[in-house]
Amino acid sequence: MDRNEAVLRELNLYPQWVRRELPADECRGTARRADAGAEASCVPAENRAASEADTQYVAQPVLSSDEGRNPSFASDMPVEAEAEPAAAIASDEAGREQLIARLGWPELKTMVRDCTACKLRAGCTQTVFGVGDQQAGWLFVGEGPGADEDERGEPFVGQAGKLLDSMLLALKLKRGDNVYIANVVKCHPPANRTPEADEIATCLPYLQRQIKLIRPRVIVALGKTAATALLKTGDVTLGSLRGEVHDYDGIPLIVTYHPAYLLRSPMEKAHAWQDLCLARQKYSL
Ligand code: URA
Repeated sequence: MDRNEAVLRELNLYPQWVRRELPADECRGTARRADAGAEASCVPAENRAASEADTQYVAQPVLSSDEGRNPSFASDMPVEAEAEPAAAIASDEAGREQLIARLGWPELKTMVRDCTACKLRAGCTQTVFGVGDQQAGWLFVGEGPGADEDERGEPFVGQAGKLLDSMLLALKLKRGDNVYIANVVKCHPPANRTPEADEIATCLPYLQRQIKLIRPRVIVALGKTAATALLKTGDVTLGSLRGEVHDYDGIPLIVTYHPAYLLRSPMEKAHAWQDLCLARQKYSL
């Protein structure tokens, strides 16, 4: 069993494809259409037009829990005839992103827990998914788990986390209550280094899915890594992103300093407070 199949099986999504109009001997053991209760018709290959014979149709299940966990099929997508259907969806990046973009909370958590898609997983104890109210109005996004978070499996539980809790308190908020906290990467980078571009690109679809599922009223990006990853700005300074309201998929996004930076540069706390007030203003609108 390859890795993609293992992931799909783990998520209860396998088999996730149908192949229509196959020769009779190829039909045995092939998943049938689940929608409309229709049996796949088996037509000898020589009776089919060449273009048809070369096309498989892959049915993608509707997965998110908000849409229900009904394995009904949302769309038919043609793929190359030679490709392994599951692998064709999940092995390339676009397919993986499409898969993640359809997951509900339980499946997303499982996929993150078992993720080995980048080199960070080999060096960390566990993945750190995120924590809080799944219908939160406020989403705070950090960079990636530190050593304490790696040990505990929860974001922002070390010194920087204590400062984040104080920042929340200043806004009359508290962790878990109308607040969700997540990171750009879910695995602790070695020696607390900044996650690399390929690691961010691989992990970002998980955060993007979390945001789609939460639909917060406001997002606060804590530090440059979170801000540039979410806004896809490339390598710009944090200073150039602070002080204005950005748009993330229709959600106002405010950029502020990372709490770990504020621990080293406490003079900047006043500026961070300005950012949080701007976020509160956007939340209240
Ligand atoms: N720094 C982060 O960016 N995230 C954490 O979870 C902890 C520290």
